Amino acid sequence: MANKNPLDSGRRRLLMAAAGGLAAAPMARAAAGSAKPFLQLGGPSLRVAFGSCAKQSKPQPIWATIAAARPDLFLFMGDNLYADARDAATLRQRYVEFGQVEALQAFRRNTPHLAIWDDHDFGDDDVGGDYELKQLSQQLFCDEWGERPDSPRRTRSGVYEAYRIESAGRSVQILMLDLRFNRTPLVADPKLQQGYRSMVMQAKLSGKPMIGWYVPNSDPRASLLGEEQWAWLAERLAEPADLRIIGSSVQFAADGTGWECWANFPRERERLVALLAKHRAEHAVIVSGDMHYAELSKWPVPAGYPLWDLTSSGLTEVWDIPTPNSRRESQVFAEPNFGLLDIDWRGAGSVNFSIVNVEGRERLSQRVALDSLRFAAT
Ligand SMILES: [Fe+2]
Repeated sequence: MANKNPLDSGRRRLLMAAAGGLAAAPMARAAAGSAKPFLQLGGPSLRVAFGSCAKQSKPQPIWATIAAARPDLFLFMGDNLYADARDAATLRQRYVEFGQVEALQAFRRNTPHLAIWDDHDFGDDDVGGDYELKQLSQQLFCDEWGERPDSPRRTRSGVYEAYRIESAGRSVQILMLDLRFNRTPLVADPKLQQGYRSMVMQAKLSGKPMIGWYVPNSDPRASLLGEEQWAWLAERLAEPADLRIIGSSVQFAADGTGWECWANFPRERERLVALLAKHRAEHAVIVSGDMHYAELSKWPVPAGYPLWDLTSSGLTEVWDIPTPNSRRESQVFAEPNFGLLDIDWRGAGSVNFSIVNVEGRERLSQRVALDSLRFAAT
């Protein structure tokens, strides 16, 4: 962004973590059914935690709280560190500092995890594909997150990747998208930029939402994913899965925020909706970050099924002025937090969205039946 207690009884049994430790082991490019899973879990449920926006210069007590929630997997959803770098030495130094955040690194040693980046760890505030150090940033990201020397994340146009988890005999696909490497420049409203300081003061006094300064760009050349990533994503959505978790570093469903989100690229957002429909890719839910507050959004997609987007932000960063998100389904929680997806395979199955604060208090909880995440019969 521009600058249950979750303790449950009985830890789900971790049958296998990927070779090479607890970090990334991407799906093989073979057919989905034969691809080696990143995790294989027993038990009737699956707990996926996620979070974003952790400044390495700040204390990070939230990792102990997340560990106490005993997630099967944690998704680092971007702004995992704040590089904010315009030269190579600074970018490298920020990763050194990241490695010195012991609470975070201890959590990583003990919990299976996956990562994607957002603007601040990709490079700098709100930057996209024109960031001048993006190739170096790609290598530093891959080094930090344990990518093999021959990992495609090191050489392709972005660090997007797909993973599969086997949980109670079900297949969960996790799609970690790269919304930075190929993103074309944002379009800003200069009037909103110029009046920003006074708008912030008014919003603080009134307690009313405040729009950010970015506006939607309907130019057919405007890109968020880039064609290579779109082709890859189409292949992934054609693969079978009992649940798909789409990791998007910025909000997908939210509308009218004025800050970074898919709504700034309406053609790209509609393209993903159309791709889900084309492949009849059901049971997709979205997790996002970036906003420095947490909320749940829901997009009742015409000719589709509702797309839920649970936003958790930040692990350390907090912004207490909400935007006018027309698809908001919850309160806004401006305090350090993390998100949880609790998937229950029993019966028809459900996914529970929740937000938990740094003290372990549940702030939001919404259960959604998996049957509601399906296309109408044709
Ligand atoms: Fe961000």
